[in-house]
Amino acid sequence: MSILVTGGAGFIGGNFVLDWLAQSDETVVNLDALSYAGNLDTLKSLEQDPRHVFVRGDIGDRVLVDALLAEHRPRAVINFAAESHVDRSIHGPGDFIQTNVVGTFNLLESVRGYWGQLTDAERAAFRLLHVSTDEVYGSLSPDDAPFTENHRYQPNSPYSASKAASDHLMRAWHHTYGLPVLTTNCSNNYGPYHFPEKLIPLVILNALAGKPLPIYGDGSQVRDWLYVKDHCSAIRRVLEAGTPGETYNVGGWNEKTNLDVVKTICALLDELAPQADPTRRYAEQIAFVADRPGHDSRYAIDARKLERELGWRPQETFDSGIRKTVAWYLQHQDWVANVSSGAYRDWVNQHYG
Ligand code: NAD
Ligand code: DAU
Repeated sequence: MSILVTGGAGFIGGNFVLDWLAQSDETVVNLDALSYAGNLDTLKSLEQDPRHVFVRGDIGDRVLVDALLAEHRPRAVINFAAESHVDRSIHGPGDFIQTNVVGTFNLLESVRGYWGQLTDAERAAFRLLHVSTDEVYGSLSPDDAPFTENHRYQPNSPYSASKAASDHLMRAWHHTYGLPVLTTNCSNNYGPYHFPEKLIPLVILNALAGKPLPIYGDGSQVRDWLYVKDHCSAIRRVLEAGTPGETYNVGGWNEKTNLDVVKTICALLDELAPQADPTRRYAEQIAFVADRPGHDSRYAIDARKLERELGWRPQETFDSGIRKTVAWYLQHQDWVANVSSGAYRDWVNQHYG
């Protein structure tokens, strides 16, 4: 038995592959294009592990994906592969349309062809799990109830619009062809192996490097934060027991303003990595910068369907998860050095000036 994971060299996909193989001997075929966000360093511990088959390639490459499916005959496909950074989607939306929309379409067609040739029993057991985001629902006002699965789609950024399109393709392939699709819509993840273009790792690394901690606008925007390993356990649970055609919201019940998140990280660094000058505090590096165009002011997830129907709840609170995360970055400066390549530095210079 095997599963095919796409985007398994990225942040969440990498954590998922590591977690999966820590709990199961079922082979993971890992298809990843190794874009700037994909890092094989994350999977270093699996280098000699025969249960992990890494293939560099594009989810949109029909010939390659058809061949992988025919060769490995997975019982499930889990699609993490995507362009995932909102700011990059504002600078250059083309790659987001290409991977998240066209790539997802091609993947769906390959999977549909493969699924159609399975035996009746294999077809009934097969699942395609599509990993998506809460951003497809748009932005909430301070007093609005959190997003349920029935909230209308109202994506605001090129990134979220491309993910919304991919969700709609998944829905239609289930509705029209009967493909057993499961979709998860998750809130902001954080934890080990998070690429340092996103808020939490960026702030940890900038703080340690003595650089400004850029907060867009006034920092009052709210995100719901989920420790990445909790997201991985939710995906495993939905894969195991979710109903094809259904969507499941995944969240941490941890709404925080960006300013609160950054101040929490600074306080943890003051404790775990105090500066040479004992009077200095990391929060002194906070710098308010120009806001993100079209910045969504609040996301909040109602994850009760997943709890009620499949018994899933997150294990980490924000306090426990962020402490583990800061400690991980302090202990893994080698991983950080390897991913902070020339391409990464070019992005930081282009975006933050
Ligand atoms: P990431 O950017 O860290 O990783 C994406 C991975 O996909 C990379 O390894 C990259 O090389 C690979 N990839 C990109 N284009 C590809 C292509 N055409 N073919 C094959 N591989 C390709 O992203 P992430 O944060 O790990 O997010 C994973 C998925 O989860 C995405 O679909 C994202 O939309 C979704 N999601 C992310 C979050 C979050 O907070 N990070 C929250 C909810 C949902
Ligand atoms: O909600 C789920 C989404 O969370 C995922 O679908 C995306 O793939 C993931 O990147 C994330 O999107 P966000 O835009 O919320 O994450 P990001 O870390 O880029 O930003 C978090 C908040 O912090 C957001 O309100 C913007 C703000 N921010 C971000 C950066 C990079 C800053 O204030 N300064 C920064 O330098």
